[in-house]
Order: sequence, then C-alpha cells, then structure tokens
Amino acid sequence: MRILLHRADGKTEPWLKDFSSCLPEAELAIWHAGEKNPPCDYAVVWSPPEAMLPELAQVKAIFNTGAGVDALLRYGDAIPREIPIVRLGDAGMGLQMAEYVTHAVLRYFRRFDDYERQARAGVWAALPPYRREDFAVGVLGLGTLGTRVIEALAPFGFPLHGWSRTEKRLDGVQCYHGANSLDTFLRASRVLVCMLPLTPETGNLLDRSNLAKLPAGAYLINVARGAHLAEPELLAMIRSGQIAAATLDVFRNEPLPAQHPFWQEPRITITPHVSALTLRRESVQQIADKIRRLERGQPVADIVDRNLGY
Ligand code: NAP
Ligand code: GLV
Repeated sequence: MRILLHRADGKTEPWLKDFSSCLPEAELAIWHAGEKNPPCDYAVVWSPPEAMLPELAQVKAIFNTGAGVDALLRYGDAIPREIPIVRLGDAGMGLQMAEYVTHAVLRYFRRFDDYERQARAGVWAALPPYRREDFAVGVLGLGTLGTRVIEALAPFGFPLHGWSRTEKRLDGVQCYHGANSLDTFLRASRVLVCMLPLTPETGNLLDRSNLAKLPAGAYLINVARGAHLAEPELLAMIRSGQIAAATLDVFRNEPLPAQHPFWQEPRITITPHVSALTLRRESVQQIADKIRRLERGQPVADIVDRNLGY
C-alpha cells in the first residue's frame, strides 16, 4: 500500500515518521511539485495545491488533516466524486475548541476585557457584574466540535442555544434547526459562537443583517472560517457599540494583513488560527486506523458529503 503525503506548511517529515511507526506496512511518499509520483492508494493532505490534483484524482481515498474541507472542495469535481474525502473527527480538536471558547465566554462574562483596559489606564474600579441569565450563548453548528463546546459551557449555567441544519436534541440546550429558525436563534444569543463548516449555504452568514438580530451589546466568537464573516460590517457594528466585542481566530486573508483595521480595534481579540490545532500523533493514529478499515472493506466515520459540502 502506498500513501502520498502533502502539507501546505512543508513540514511533512514528522508526519512521515509517525506514519511509518503507526502503519509500518505502508510505503510512504512525500508529494513534491513537478516530480513524477508513482500511483498511490491514499493521499493525506492539508490544503493541497492545484498541481496535486492529477495525483488526488487517482487514489482510493483522500484524508484531510483537519476538520474543515473547504480547501479541498474548492476544486469541485476535479476531485472525482467517487473518491471519498475523509476529514478528521475530533482527534484532539474538541478539547482545544472547548478551552478556547469557554475562555472567551468567561472573559466577557466576568468583564476581564474591561478590567484589562482599566488596568492599563491604572483604574481600580469594580464594574457591575453581568447576570448569568442575560448571557445566553448560541452556538452555530452542533457537530463534533460544536457539541463539545456546548458540553464544556454547560456547568457554568448560561442559557445555551444551538443551531444546526438537521433537528437535534441536547440536554439543557434550546436547539434550533434550519434557515427558518435562524432569526429566533440569533435574537436569543447574547454571545454568538460560529462553529460551522464553510459551505455555499454558510458563507457570509455573519453579515450586518444577521449580526443586527443579536441583542444590543452582543459578543461574537468566530472559530470557524473567515469567509463566514463580513469583516467591514462587524467593524462598523463594534465601533457603533451595537456589538460589544469579538474574538476572532479566523480571517478572510490569513495571515491577517498588517494594515487590516482589526489590528487597531481594541475590542477585537485576534488569534492566528489556533483555536484547535491539528495534533499530529492523534491524527496519524486516526487516519491509520481508518486506512486499515478501508483495506478490510469496513466503513469509516467522517466521510464528507460532497453535496452538503461538509
Ligand atoms: P461537523 O461535525 O461537520 O459539524 C458541522 C455542524 O454545522 C453540524 O451540526 C451541521 O448540522 C451544521 N451545519 C452545516 N451546514 C449548516 C447549515 N447550512 N445550516 C445550519 N447548520 C449547518 O464539523 P466540526 O468538526 O464540528 O467542525 C466545524 C468547523 O470548524 C470545520 O468545518 C472548520 O471549518 C472549523 N474548524 C476550525 C478550526 C480552527 O482552528 N479555527 C479547527 C477545527 C475546525 P447537522 O448536524 O444538522 O449536519
Ligand atoms: C482547521 O481549521 C481545521 O479545519 O481543522
């Protein structure tokens, strides 16, 4: 069995080592532009370049070393539909996402952002606390990561809301589904967490019209994809005070360009796409298990639905 590896960051060697120990029966190759690669059974990729499409079109399955598959699906049918695309299923990302979002929610609820500003100005003054019942958290996307985030928030007693495409039932969570219920969900969410995949249906969902449905002084946490958010519209709403603050991990252009106005806005907290990193060992273990299952003709989890785009 032959496996072709590619990473957009070029750091492929450690992946090669981990695959050699997890799947010693496999022959491993690193993809290099312009080189002729012998036919491979599987490809393990992150954000592959267009030049890799001829190799991708010939494998039995493509493994995406992340949860989001938008960088692969942008190639449309240049990756034949009969080739399964398998995303990571958690692989250690759920806990990281839970940490990141819980931290951001508690930071706003306990007004640490305001206290940071006061401390820099040398101000010692207690601010009125927010009421827990006024701090409903709404999570867009109740998949692998969204449900993990909700579980992590549950012990803090905030009213919890979730929105998904299909109907869900989660203990202690007011669940909404489908486009018709989006407005009701947004109106109920003082903190909005975006945990959606980027698809033709979800791109630009965080635009002025939808953000305006949030209660006045709402908070936004975007840990999904930059293209979910209309960036200039958020900035205007933060400057007007309609949105109190935002924590953003993902951006339309990454790295966020130095001249981007977000850098100058103190109510926007920026992190460099790190809310849930791909953990190499966990990921290699999961992909190796799935390859073995496919080789035995068994079904595997986390196959992307090409029609839905996630
Ligand atoms: P997932 O398990 O596929 O869950 C996706 C959720 O979104 C599901 O609940 C799905 O609804 C819902 N959804 C999809 N399209 C929808 C629509 N049109 N309307 C309403 N709900 C919709 O994905 P995941 O593993 O939780 O990951 C989610 C995303 O997080 C990834 O795609 C990726 O972009 C992002 N991510 C970011 C980072 C980072 O470091 N910033 C790391 C990992 C992942 P159903 O349940 O009804 O299908
Ligand atoms: C990271 O953004 C991922 O989708 O895994």
